[in-house]
Amino acid sequence: GAPIDVDLTPIADGQIVNVFWRGKLIFVRHLTEKEVADMKAVAPAGMIDPAPFLGRVKDGHERWLVAYGNCTHLGCVPIANANGHEGWGCPCHGSQFDAVGRVTRGPAPINLPIPPYAFQGDTKVRIG
Ligand code: FES
Repeated sequence: GAPIDVDLTPIADGQIVNVFWRGKLIFVRHLTEKEVADMKAVAPAGMIDPAPFLGRVKDGHERWLVAYGNCTHLGCVPIANANGHEGWGCPCHGSQFDAVGRVTRGPAPINLPIPPYAFQGDTKVRIG
């Protein structure tokens, strides 16, 4: 599939937008300052699929997460900010993901994967 461009200007602080690339759901999340601080503070060592914050966002654009939007267990779509949780909760079997898509509770075995993407300036990302 061809790359897609996502205009970031209308995406408010804390908002998550769903886009599709190659038929797959992708979340584009505008992290709040608090979410960035909270995610940076997590020590990856104890995680199910350890990943540092800067392995999940691009250096210099750390307010933006771009990640596939299907649970890595059996593919359900996790719900954002369920029960006051800062990330996502999967309605199928209870997996949880943090605000940058790292799995914090199974059965999901791995983090939400990051598709290939690049910033085109500060207000546009090209996925693919
Ligand atoms: Fe998400 Fe099973 S599909 S926990």
